[in-house]
Amino acid sequence: LPERVPSHWRPRRHFSPARNWMNDPNGMVYLDGVFHLFFQYNPGGSVWGDIHWGHAVSRDLLHWQEKPVALASEPDGLGMIFSGGAVVDWENTSGFQRGENPPVVATFTHHDGNGVQVQSLAISTDGGWRWEKYADNPVIPNPGIKDFRDPKVFWHASSRRWVMVLAAGDRVHFYRSRDLKEWEFLGDFGEKAGDHGGVWECPDLFPLKTPEGEERWCLLVSINPGGPNGGSATQYFIGDFDGERFVPEHQEVRWLDYGTDNYAGVTWDGLQGRGDRRILVGWMSNWDYANKVPTEIWRGAMTLPRELYLYRDQERLLLGNRPVTEVQVARTLHSEGVLERGKVVQLPGGNALDLSISVGSAPELELEFLAGDGERLLLTLSRERGVLLLDRRESGWVEEGLGREIRAPLVHSLNRDSELRVVIDGSAMEIFVDGGKTALTAVFFSSEPLSRLAVLRAAGLSPAYSLYTI
Ligand code: FRU
Repeated sequence: LPERVPSHWRPRRHFSPARNWMNDPNGMVYLDGVFHLFFQYNPGGSVWGDIHWGHAVSRDLLHWQEKPVALASEPDGLGMIFSGGAVVDWENTSGFQRGENPPVVATFTHHDGNGVQVQSLAISTDGGWRWEKYADNPVIPNPGIKDFRDPKVFWHASSRRWVMVLAAGDRVHFYRSRDLKEWEFLGDFGEKAGDHGGVWECPDLFPLKTPEGEERWCLLVSINPGGPNGGSATQYFIGDFDGERFVPEHQEVRWLDYGTDNYAGVTWDGLQGRGDRRILVGWMSNWDYANKVPTEIWRGAMTLPRELYLYRDQERLLLGNRPVTEVQVARTLHSEGVLERGKVVQLPGGNALDLSISVGSAPELELEFLAGDGERLLLTLSRERGVLLLDRRESGWVEEGLGREIRAPLVHSLNRDSELRVVIDGSAMEIFVDGGKTALTAVFFSSEPLSRLAVLRAAGLSPAYSLYTI
């Protein structure tokens, strides 16, 4: 392996492991002012294998510090430590408490040498820092289903039970428990709803408020392959949940993010009663090329943490995802002006960038992000065609299908106040229209850092922009 790879590929304000392979975010829990983030990690190499849970922490969701591995794989036992969640057991329903701290309990999948998947627990009695596996694992044996994984648990207050969602083939299974140890199967979801072009993975279920202040439940389900632009992507369903059954309001597939690189995203536990924020982080890669991307000594980064919210568009209730407000708080204005055709804006190197454009009623905006002499990404927002497009075909390393044009139909209607926001950090671009009503996340690997933005077309208007460093 090379000693170094170009440093401009490494994001500064997104988590990425110092070395080696990372995929899904796991076990996210907030406690004592600390956001814990665990993740699928191979400590022995930069391709997928021998999966452990790595660990990172942050106080502001922007600056991350990597910690020692939290859960090691058991090659001669129950196997690798696949994805799952973690909860703070405030009332010690599990009886795992030792001392002052409420126990933090992680639920994850053990995947053994024969590929058998079962559900297990791990416990932290020091607030999420050190972990021990439960002595009586697994807590849910395999019922004869090959793909049976990614248990995510939450406390369902009105039924006073823990509820678990997990992925089983192309369905979501629901379980419940009083103590996190004994689980009762409730039923499944998915036969008639959503996309079935691949395996369902990493579900998450949580309540959100409608703009009118009513409660709805939102079910996230990642799917691979079958994404709207190839490979991996995350779909969502909005509906009701009574502690036993999820009933969706719609059958058709809805995508959380149309980009190729926001996968397996789930949300933080422990924020209930703290503004009830629902914060998601996703893995910024795609199974189509995750093992091949040229960063070589480290592979995989997380998306910016994003706040999830419900909004209405022409009567439909939809799910939006925008960068957490911590990003706005941390940013510094670098330049501002208007984007007329032919205008070139310099992009300061060595920083994470946050570009905000008031698109107003411009019918079409076409921007070119340039690196070195010749590499570029082309971003088009077209009101007339109702699409957001990102073309990475000339962006540098475009092997393994990374160079396809990404197409995001605008899921909502643009208006006079519409905003196009582009966050660029290392090898990733996260694009949000109107605060994440439409989102498109994509990685790219240009030989040199992006250094300027050129306006190819700004039909109709000269939109104002502000460029920040984060
Ligand atoms: C999703 C996934 C999960 C699984 C994990 C294994 O990307 O396939 O379903 O638990 O990755 O690393």
